[in-house]
Amino acid sequence: MKTSERTRESESKLLPELFHLLRPHLSALDAFLDEQVQCFESEIKDKVDYCIDTSGKRIRPSLIFFSGWQGEEIIDNDLVKLAAVVEIIHLATLVHDDIMDMADIRRKQDTVAKKFGNTTAVLLGDALFSHAVFLSTQFPTPEVCQRVAIAMRNVCSGEIMQTMQRGDPDISLESYQRVIDLKTAELFYVSCFLGAKLSGEDSKFCEAAGQFGRKLGIAYQIYDDLTDLFGSQEKIGKTLGTDIATGKATLPLILMRERLDETERRKLSSTLAGEIPADIAYWLENLAQMGIFEEVKNTIFKEITQARTVIEPYREIPAVAFLETMSELLWNQVVALKSDQTSN
Ligand code: IPE
Ligand code: IPE
Ligand code: MG
Ligand code: MG
Repeated sequence: MKTSERTRESESKLLPELFHLLRPHLSALDAFLDEQVQCFESEIKDKVDYCIDTSGKRIRPSLIFFSGWQGEEIIDNDLVKLAAVVEIIHLATLVHDDIMDMADIRRKQDTVAKKFGNTTAVLLGDALFSHAVFLSTQFPTPEVCQRVAIAMRNVCSGEIMQTMQRGDPDISLESYQRVIDLKTAELFYVSCFLGAKLSGEDSKFCEAAGQFGRKLGIAYQIYDDLTDLFGSQEKIGKTLGTDIATGKATLPLILMRERLDETERRKLSSTLAGEIPADIAYWLENLAQMGIFEEVKNTIFKEITQARTVIEPYREIPAVAFLETMSELLWNQVVALKSDQTSN
């Protein structure tokens, strides 16, 4: 399906204030992504097209365009290609992630696994990864391919570690932080680093932009983990409540575990181990009453503040103000999240 036939959900999601600035860049990205479908064998094009869905929030591409900001009217083909590489990797990880999380809905439609079955979904994810690597070789410097490949390896490693930890109620805070750094923050890091790099920024700023991305990625995953419990499935458009149901001990649950009495802690352990059904409403009440909902929000605010501090010394670079605005958008999303709005 052509991009023009789809509803661009991102216009009303995370980027409303900034979307008009990014419109030409994101349109160029959509057109480039549509072209990529044509590279695949005719027998599977429709399935690839289903995967390369343009209705996501485009957070990582936006970080790339802003990190390498050269002006509203300047469409840099290398930045567009990088945005496509990162978005395709992101899509591939989601295709695989939804199999592992047993999720049925992604971006308001059936997940690739639900639509085509797990076996086809695994291979479609692999084909997307391969195509992203192929595209990443088409830059003036091999550094893009090297960094993208490392980021992909790290995302997969994070997902593997998380899979190994599933059902384990005693996951430490450090293990959780390590997993989210790998599975989510890596791609945010590489987006900001390479966005700045391809625009010719000096290496100090590229690293600062990368570190900003890493911290924002950590904040974003913690926010996502909070919405998995407290978010509205209808608004967010993907299956929620899967973390607890599939034995993933995320930050809210790790913090709660420490404060439960022995009996309750055993109940949480049995829930995460899949021995008893997840009574989500019960745990949500506990999380809100114990102040953990607010505590997790404060952790996110802390990460966002640290992210801003890293780029603060580079104010003279236009990218900085845009990256700060991106972080503000996440901040506002976190503020807007309420502990009593769940519709899981
Ligand atoms: C979902 O990412 C996976 C996480 C890292 C939490 P996004 O929230 O960016 O997903 P889309 O691209 O907008 O669907
Ligand atoms: C992020 O974790 C997944 C990847 C980085 C691939 P989640 O499993 O929380 O992401 P969602 O909630 O399914 O989008
Ligand atoms: Mg998931
Ligand atoms: Mg999630």
